[in-house]
Amino acid sequence: MRCQITRDPDLAAEFLRDGKVVALPTETVYGLAGVATNPEAVARIFAAKQRPEFDPLIVHLADFDDLPLVAACCPPEAQRLMERFWPGPLTVILPRQSTIPGIVTSGLPTVGVRLPNHGLTRDVIRRAGAPVAAPSANLFGRLSPTRPEHVLNQLGDVIDLVLDGGPCTIGVESTIVQFENEAAIVVRPGGLPLEDIRQICPNAIRRVSTESITPSAPGLLPSHYAPRTPIQTCKAVADIPLPASGERWGLLSLTSVESPGYQQMEVLSARGDLIEATARFFETLHQLDHGQLDRIVAVKFPDVGLGVALNDRLMRAAAAFDAHATP
Ligand code: TXA
Ligand code: MG
Repeated sequence: MRCQITRDPDLAAEFLRDGKVVALPTETVYGLAGVATNPEAVARIFAAKQRPEFDPLIVHLADFDDLPLVAACCPPEAQRLMERFWPGPLTVILPRQSTIPGIVTSGLPTVGVRLPNHGLTRDVIRRAGAPVAAPSANLFGRLSPTRPEHVLNQLGDVIDLVLDGGPCTIGVESTIVQFENEAAIVVRPGGLPLEDIRQICPNAIRRVSTESITPSAPGLLPSHYAPRTPIQTCKAVADIPLPASGERWGLLSLTSVESPGYQQMEVLSARGDLIEATARFFETLHQLDHGQLDRIVAVKFPDVGLGVALNDRLMRAAAAFDAHATP
């Protein structure tokens, strides 16, 4: 493995200034960062992730005042949301500044911008001297990383450095909001629940997209966030299927359930707390994926608050399986 692991923000900043890609911790998931104004560094991100170039990247700032480096202007709704929820798990889609190369935005006239709530990483971005473009630090379509070892497992042979900031506190990607006719539209549910956004923008809505390829919302590809083990979902505890005989099945659920015949059972929060469950979600899927199982069954979450983002990830993780499942 060629990848180094460090806790030194100076070293990470030096790598970034040299045009290398570095995995950086954030409060949501680990990101694979390169200086946003360096098209070659950004190209290395796409190559390392094997990510198609129609899928634009989010640009991460060190400080709120850096927004004009990235965005040409900002509607009042966006301004209010950023003032309330930045730093935090909110990405806003804004008209792009001309200094942001087309490879970052996949040629779109807009750019996704985020101010992460992670002091160490903001320090690195500050020392790097420019905002960084960073998708989640996983191979395209696979499980998102919430610990340094998740990054090393998927990308250790193709990237140079991981900045170790420990486990991510939120555990699911940022909520992405775009603005149309002065209305806020959630295009990807994430770490900031729609209910919270509505406290600032009462008319905010979620737009559900299941299009196969869309330049405006590629994180919404139907098959995404997937473990290698086949995964299926079930609507409720009462619908948990019996494992096929002779097979090793694993179960993922919010609270503990009776489930005879399962080899591995993972409960995300014994007290049913969606914040705790979100923080453990990807980590637990990584564990199940390494459990030599024939199948993972995941019970859907309550469709409120962070449960909306978790159900979105489950649906996309299970899309490949569900598409081939007999009805
Ligand atoms: O929490 C997060 O958002 C993490 C951390 C690393 O910050 N990043 C992340 O990046 O989830 P990624 O690449 O896995 O997802 C970024 C999503 C993609 O679906 C992309 O299409 C969308 O953001 N996006 C980026 N720029 C966009 C734009 N101009 N218009 C619409 N969607 C955009
Ligand atoms: Mg991703």
